[in-house]
Amino acid sequence: KEDMSVFCDVQQAAPVAVFKLTQDFNNDQFPNKVNLGVGAYRTDEGKPWVLPVVKKVEKLIVHDDRLNHEYLPILGLPEFRSSSSKIVLGDDSPAIREDRVGGVQCLGGTGALKMGAEFLRRFYNGSNNTKTPVYVSAPTWENHNAVFSSAGFEDVRPYKYWDAEKRGLDLSGFLRDLESCPERSIFVLHACAHNPTGTDPSQEQWKQIAEVMMRRKLFAFFDSAYQGFASGNLDKDAWAVCYFVSMGIEMFCAQSFSKNFGLYNERVGNLTIVARDADNLKRVLSQMEKIVRTTWSNPPSQGARIVAITLNSPELFSEWKDNVKTMADRVLLMRAQLKAKLQSLGTPGTWDHITDQIGMFSFTGLNSKQVEYMVKEKHVYLMASGRINMCGLTSKNIDYVAESIHEAVTTVQ
Ligand SMILES: Cc1ncc(COP(=O)(O)O)c(C=O)c1O
Ligand SMILES: *[C@@H]1O[C@H](CO)[C@@H](O)[C@H](O)[C@H]1NC(C)=O
Ligand SMILES: *[C@@H]1O[C@H](CO)[C@@H](O)[C@H](O)[C@H]1NC(C)=O
Ligand SMILES: *[C@@H]1O[C@H](CO)[C@@H](O)[C@H](O)[C@H]1NC(C)=O
Repeated sequence: KEDMSVFCDVQQAAPVAVFKLTQDFNNDQFPNKVNLGVGAYRTDEGKPWVLPVVKKVEKLIVHDDRLNHEYLPILGLPEFRSSSSKIVLGDDSPAIREDRVGGVQCLGGTGALKMGAEFLRRFYNGSNNTKTPVYVSAPTWENHNAVFSSAGFEDVRPYKYWDAEKRGLDLSGFLRDLESCPERSIFVLHACAHNPTGTDPSQEQWKQIAEVMMRRKLFAFFDSAYQGFASGNLDKDAWAVCYFVSMGIEMFCAQSFSKNFGLYNERVGNLTIVARDADNLKRVLSQMEKIVRTTWSNPPSQGARIVAITLNSPELFSEWKDNVKTMADRVLLMRAQLKAKLQSLGTPGTWDHITDQIGMFSFTGLNSKQVEYMVKEKHVYLMASGRINMCGLTSKNIDYVAESIHEAVTTVQ
């Protein structure tokens, strides 16, 4: 008994689905296997892509003798926290001029969500808000649930979002949930390129959503992980966030630079806080500093430097925008080709949603049995929800993937 480990009662946790899928893919010996799981950009050769602008800036950093590895301030690199281009809110946001917008450099978009959640649980609507409902879209990026519950929120609920029947947004269900939830509930909103459905509200629909949220005093927590991937245009993809700010709404926005800078493993994120006025912002930031201090103490510099240097130089900024467009355009091309191939194969069902959906992902509508068939019989790896990463498609494998979908749909009900 005395040589039992102190860990003997620890239960084995389930693996994280998307990483498990990649592991299964790596272990698969089939030569024409395809990975449509993980949410990262791939070139037409199926390779990860270091953005040319990032390579250039990394060289500048290596040769800049003024830089060192001293600790950054707790809330992050100053040039990163207030970079001149201000890509979420735009250059000319009145809220920025009024000094009521602040940024906290975080470890990726996930870190920004986590810091925001920790703050809200401690300070939103009074204090120690474990009971405040947090609403996440049905479906959503699965980590939303866990990030908010691990921050102490006991009541994380889904709100209506996806209409599986019509393969589109369930706006009336969404609005109904906004109308019927308790006042001051927290809503996690995908700023653009909704993960996993690839379906965003239109500008008119966002206006309806904002109207109910304001009237019912609901808190908007935007998650912006794919800015640039939805339309290829940064400003267009930030429209919803900017609109909410222009309506005077107080909110958070967790910004990730993992996808649009291809800086996945550098962990670059930014939590934007929009407060009523400068005085509220100041107190919020002072508490954020305490939360960061006990979490990672101060953030890493490399990724934030790359982003800040790029955004603060007009030439590099425009080069970056071209790089983002290269990625977005390749996704659009794969969408068009996949749809055309399925249509020419005569695959049952309509496939317009493949080109109607935007961003990195497509929600194919394949059911879990069909997904299983794709993985087991065809060695095409995708999430059980039917979500595919469009960047996993290349001119070499797209015929095989289309034929596999055709086979899955016609063989398995
Ligand atoms: C919707 C959504 N939010 C946040 C993130 C987190 O991104 P990061 O890797 O920067 O933490 C992701 C990444 O997949 C995502 O899909
Ligand atoms: C971080 O957020 C702040 C507040 O919105 C903003 O001013 C700053 O430009 C953002 N940083 C980056 C790199 O986008
Ligand atoms: C916060 O609430 C939880 C659950 O209601 C309770 O267990 C905890 O003691 C509270 N903490 C503080 C600091 O009030
Ligand atoms: C907000 O706080 C008030 C006062 O404590 C409480 O009655 C109400 O239930 C809270 N609302 C939410 C959504 O947590």
